[in-house]
Amino acid sequence: MVRTRFCDVFGVEHPIVQGGMQWVGTAELVSAVANAGALGFLTALTQPTPEDLAKEIARCREMTDKPFGVNLTILPSINPPPYAEYRDVIVESGIPVVETAGFNPAEHLPTFQGGGVKVLHKCTSVRHAVKAQELGVDGISIDGFECAGHPGEDDIPGLVLIPAAAEKVSIPMVASGGFGDARGLVAALALGATASTWARGSSPRRRRPCTRTSSSAWSRRPNATPS
Ligand SMILES: Cc1cc2nc3c(=O)[nH]c(=O)nc-3n(C[C@H](O)[C@H](O)[C@H](O)COP(=O)(O)O)c2cc1C
Repeated sequence: MVRTRFCDVFGVEHPIVQGGMQWVGTAELVSAVANAGALGFLTALTQPTPEDLAKEIARCREMTDKPFGVNLTILPSINPPPYAEYRDVIVESGIPVVETAGFNPAEHLPTFQGGGVKVLHKCTSVRHAVKAQELGVDGISIDGFECAGHPGEDDIPGLVLIPAAAEKVSIPMVASGGFGDARGLVAALALGATASTWARGSSPRRRRPCTRTSSSAWSRRPNATPS
């Protein structure tokens, strides 16, 4: 199996990431990913309270003794979730790596860095990747337009975005959006990344919870016309 600088920095066997997924990134999936030697992320905001996140971390530890992380999505909001409390649970639980996403992580970095938590920041543009690198994060996840979740506003596909980011980013960089098998991983490495995210691709096709989640969310939309 391929080993890259990403594996050394984040302490995992394989350069594969299961990115945070709302409602999907729970202990069952994340422990399975960790047991397979990749880096899985529990999704903090799937847990209704910070206390529930602490319990989910403990539940995941019952299913794996390998390292895993927590995704903290910090989207701006008029009534934001208690991000600082979720952040403190991550640090106090001894989680080795956090995936931040949705906004500039500067406010949260001192606590994570002071607590020895590595930060993988998810970006959808080269300028945000460069900014996060300047702020001192440990790695970048760069999401092309193909990704699920919030693909940003620039609509740049991975084939263009990933090599453009690789020219400016010197810390480990994860290519994200549309990857989900070994061919994709090889392509990500060729584009200049040191790992790739398999989010929708991280669970078995026949039992893929994110597909069910996306499908049911789609069918609840007004005027939905599923193909
Ligand atoms: C059902 C679902 C929920 C997601 N929720 C989040 C989230 O809460 N926070 C986040 O940073 N990314 C979220 N993502 C994005 C993934 O972590 C990942 O960046 C993206 O899906 C990569 O594309 P891929 O699915 O093609 O691998 C979600 C993706 C899916 C499919």
